[in-house]
Amino acid sequence: MPDSITITDNRTGQSLEIPIRNGGVSSAEWQKILPGIWFHDPGLTTTAMTESAISYLDGDAGILRYRGYPIEQLAEESTYLEVAYLLLKGELPNEEQYKQWVSDITHHTFIHENVRKRFLEGFHYDAHPMGMLVSAIAALSTFYLDAKEIYNPAAREKQIVRLIAKMPTLAAAAHRFSVGMPFVYPDNELPFAANFLSMMWKVAEPHYSANPALVKAIDVLFILHADHEQNCSTTAMRTAGSAHADPYSSAAAAAASLYGPRHGGANEAVVRMLTEIGSMENVGDYVKSVKAGHGRLQGFGHRVYKNYDPRARIIKRVAYEVFEVTGKNPLLDIALKLEEVALNDDYFVSRRLYPNVDFYSGIIYQAMGFPVDMFPVLFAIPRMSGWLAHWSELLDQDSKIVRPRQVYSGAPERKYVPIDQR
Ligand code: SDX
Repeated sequence: MPDSITITDNRTGQSLEIPIRNGGVSSAEWQKILPGIWFHDPGLTTTAMTESAISYLDGDAGILRYRGYPIEQLAEESTYLEVAYLLLKGELPNEEQYKQWVSDITHHTFIHENVRKRFLEGFHYDAHPMGMLVSAIAALSTFYLDAKEIYNPAAREKQIVRLIAKMPTLAAAAHRFSVGMPFVYPDNELPFAANFLSMMWKVAEPHYSANPALVKAIDVLFILHADHEQNCSTTAMRTAGSAHADPYSSAAAAAASLYGPRHGGANEAVVRMLTEIGSMENVGDYVKSVKAGHGRLQGFGHRVYKNYDPRARIIKRVAYEVFEVTGKNPLLDIALKLEEVALNDDYFVSRRLYPNVDFYSGIIYQAMGFPVDMFPVLFAIPRMSGWLAHWSELLDQDSKIVRPRQVYSGAPERKYVPIDQR
């Protein structure tokens, strides 16, 4: 049988055979016999908006690969900066390339003093750190005028390095502001994840040294959150990038989308949900209320994974390693009970709802001392490398500006009525 579909317009009897390539069929083909007829696909649930070589997901099998490498191997063997390089360049770096990459990132972790003193510190005392981060990412576009040179390879590379490098600094600065602690400058002696923890937690000691198990846990969590094909925030990055907005403005659009509780805000929602449940004894009643349509199981379900999110499996293991150091988060028992009840309840099984990346990450972050409102910020730090990889890919594809069509359901043409006759 040929790898193709045939569509027929029954109004005209016209038929057209369209080849199936890489699991997709070209919409340009059916426009030949269906001009002006659009596939109505709210949420783009069955639409491939681009070709991409960055991440591969198999939702039924629960598979995630970055540039062909299984996420399990990268989480075990790699580092976040090496994974960022892989996502952006398409290949793992050799020793010399990696050394240069780490040096470039390390020497761009500082932010302009005005970003901190005039901008971040201008926020209201109880500003949400994710709102501060989204704004600060956009503000960076006003500090680097070469950011608009998106087809100049050197300028593009410089913005990519700056954004990856500055995310932990901006994130920590937002936290320090919200808790009234002084800003901590990056320590170039420290590797990426350790430097972030130093900027978060250093008080009066000359050098902050984080527990190596927590540094490793943060680095693994950053690897797991780095990319995830055409998720909502990456689609926002591609959409803004397709208009040739500079990378800072495009990344701000992506970060704003990640802020939503259905997306990157879910790990914050999970902890609030587990806290509201309060004890293992209340899990049954909570599940009943969700099944009755009152709210959702936060951290459960996924547009693509209709199996266990492979990242959630790894994060669950990391949780135990972190709790060895921090002591067990009491919410873990409630989470484990909730998972056990849901995975044995047909309501969730029939809807193929499993724990996703956000179900366990929040209780790890909380055990490490991060305030709940920092959780979406922790998601945004590593996802920046995925957003930038997709942004760079779309520019190299010379893709069209994103401009979907609609199915119009509004009023037919009608005549204007003067206000005294309404
Ligand atoms: C991330 O896309 C990505 O890759 C995202 C991400 C990434 O790395 O970028 O993986 C990160 O965003 C993970 C998802 C984090 N969000 C949450 O955990 C919030 C809770 N989950 C949901 O709101 C929901 O599952 C979504 C938004 C994640 C997915 O929504 P879909 O695919 O649009 O699912 P749906 O709304 O079509 O639901 C199908 C059915 C519905 O029931 P029926 O109407 O058929 O009766 O499942 C139900 C939904 O009501 N359902 C849930 C549920 N999620 C879906 N019911 C209870 N609890 C849930 N969590």
